[in-house]
Amino acid sequence: MPAFSDPSDHQAADQALLQPPLQNDSSAPSQPPLRLGVMASGNGSNFEALATAIEAGTLHAELVLLIVNNPGCGAVARAERLQIPHKVVDHRRWTIREELDQELVRTFQAASVDAVVMAGWMRIVTPVLIHAFADRLLNIHPSLLPSFRGLDAIGQALKAGVCISGCTVHLVSEELDAGPILAQAAVPVLDTDDHASLAERIHRQEHRLLPHAVQLAASRWTQG
Ligand code: GRF
Repeated sequence: MPAFSDPSDHQAADQALLQPPLQNDSSAPSQPPLRLGVMASGNGSNFEALATAIEAGTLHAELVLLIVNNPGCGAVARAERLQIPHKVVDHRRWTIREELDQELVRTFQAASVDAVVMAGWMRIVTPVLIHAFADRLLNIHPSLLPSFRGLDAIGQALKAGVCISGCTVHLVSEELDAGPILAQAAVPVLDTDDHASLAERIHRQEHRLLPHAVQLAASRWTQG
């Protein structure tokens, strides 16, 4: 039976699931802004959510470089509009994953980034990238991990018939979608949901969660 079958309950349920409200880290401005690199493959709405949070002062960071693997993807258009430096590292130019990741490491290190966010990077990454940014490589995933790791997490959740799904920001480890969890937001799955409607509701929460999680990680790093 669906957890939220009465439409009048949906808004309240949504609110309840998102408690407690996400807080800003008031100690952050005493530190220099975090130099952030971002990796994206597609639309780039989470990348833009980071830019919006920085502009709003809720994330104390600077978007130093966006790397995309798909030339002409939505993230590039957003970077151009927002005037954020971006570079295409097209995975089709490499047959060996480690060599692609070596290029990513070189490019981010040349830009002196402090940390890297995988915001919809649709490639498996290797220890080359993971170890170069040990504990400073973050990923956002559209499920409540550890449920529904891997591809099409939203489809997996619908197929399983769960009543609650959500999104997770975690540190990247060698096992896919299994690194330490930094923050999560829950999203109700409605009995009327299809893939598009659930994806849209999860995306809305991702845009809140990702800047919060990055700020949380940054404050831990600066506290040593
Ligand atoms: C998000 O749902 C994220 O969880 C997943 O890829 C999607 C990227 O969306 N890893 P966008 O490109 O940021 O709009």
